Amino acid sequence: DNNRQIKTALELAAAAQNIEELRDALSRFEGCQLKKTATNLVLCDGPADARLMLIGEAPGADEDRQGVPFVGPSGQLLNAILDSVGLYREQVMISNTVFWRPPGNRTPTGQEAAVCKPFIERLVELVDPKILVCVGAPAAHTMLGETQGISRLRGKWFSFQTPRLSHPIHATAIFHPAYLLRTPIKKRDVWVDIRMIKAKLDGA
Ligand code: URA
Repeated sequence: DNNRQIKTALELAAAAQNIEELRDALSRFEGCQLKKTATNLVLCDGPADARLMLIGEAPGADEDRQGVPFVGPSGQLLNAILDSVGLYREQVMISNTVFWRPPGNRTPTGQEAAVCKPFIERLVELVDPKILVCVGAPAAHTMLGETQGISRLRGKWFSFQTPRLSHPIHATAIFHPAYLLRTPIKKRDVWVDIRMIKAKLDGA
């Protein structure tokens, strides 16, 4: 059942001492239903010592095909958002709350998110970034334990902590680029938010 799968996930994740071991653990893990319909595991992209880490919702079709997060239209816009403040995709660690594409790009279920959570938490511990940015409401809810809508979470700082982190990590949330592609008027908010993130990264 799901609780047993979560326990297995916690044990596997805790044992991983680096990203490659985490990838190996996920490729052996059979506790998430999404794996059955996905083409590829989509774990993460970016340097293991990145100071900025972004976590999205779930891989889409392009990501599933390539095995790399945020490479489709959302990824292109995400790159432009980073570029706007002189942050480059190559400097940023990017992952998702689940590591396989949900059929039809539906939002991951609570069970799917819960069983993947030990692995994404372990990835945050291994990278230990200065700042964690949740991309979209589902990621913010899963990572921060918040329930408010994304409009209320964006522009604010939260703290992300796990028992294994020696210190809390600054965390915030931004609108998902897929939402911004459908609702371009909201882009002005993301330009404000990314400047806030850059300022904190630079020590403000
Ligand atoms: N949307 C996400 O949330 N994550 C991706 O990797 C791609 C699109």
